[in-house]
Amino acid sequence: LKPLTDATPIKTPMLPDAQTVTHVEHFTDDLFSFRVSRPQSLRFRSGEFVMIGLMGDTGKPLLRAYSIASPSWDEELEFYSIKVQNGPLTSKLQHIQPGDQIILRPKPVGTLVHDALLPGKRIWFFATGTGFAPFASLLRDPETYELYDEVIITHTCRDVAELEYGRRIVEALPNDPLIGELVGDKLKYYPTTTREDSPKMGRITTLLQDGTVFKDLGIDGMTAETDRAMVCGSMGLNTDLKEILEGFGLREGANSDPAEYVVEKAFVG
Ligand code: A2P
Repeated sequence: LKPLTDATPIKTPMLPDAQTVTHVEHFTDDLFSFRVSRPQSLRFRSGEFVMIGLMGDTGKPLLRAYSIASPSWDEELEFYSIKVQNGPLTSKLQHIQPGDQIILRPKPVGTLVHDALLPGKRIWFFATGTGFAPFASLLRDPETYELYDEVIITHTCRDVAELEYGRRIVEALPNDPLIGELVGDKLKYYPTTTREDSPKMGRITTLLQDGTVFKDLGIDGMTAETDRAMVCGSMGLNTDLKEILEGFGLREGANSDPAEYVVEKAFVG
């Protein structure tokens, strides 16, 4: 029998495309965010998503689409996730700790990007639940404020605690050393809840249809000339909001054919 030397290849379970977890924060029993190391070669446009996951029990990677929540200039990558107790991936992913490894396929794609919209004056980001993630990236991207005079982020959740991740990002922006000055007074935050009392109750769709949003923000309404929109939430939200935006005369755009609004479903749920 040959003795085992340094040169003998030892079979260790290697994670393909492994990245190291640097930070984990739990917001509620159902929501958490985490940061991981960023592959040096990874370039992405704010708003895009990648496939991330863990090695499954069968030895096959268990991957899901996750919007990158950090801006493209950040040296790490941030993600915002729901915890599904019986979910194949998130039932395990919710237990990750700094130092652990996850799999990250470095191929960013997605439609919630500035390239998919024609120039405009005002941009609306409409999110429900973890649909806030791509906007956490776009809101921290200088380009957003260079392209638009006004930036409005709406976030609808069932409870107040579910707004916390987004609220923190929005509230930190004006004092951000990197882009605070650019943000200035361009940014308006419009959080709403549907199942717990808060200063603004109701689905964003209802509040748009009855004009409450416009009244609250001191805006006349939406037009195809001035307004652009990005939508990220549940299937129901996406379908209903598309109809509302089309009603204002906005048309759906794509990377290859920019127009006035774009939609993407909040993936993990
Ligand atoms: P509601 O409580 O009235 O269902 P969920 O946790 O189910 O993903 O929902 C996140 C938020 O999105 C909730 O506040 C929910 O409101 C809202 N929501 C769900 N469906 C729609 C829809 N079709 N239009 C607007 N908001 C929606």
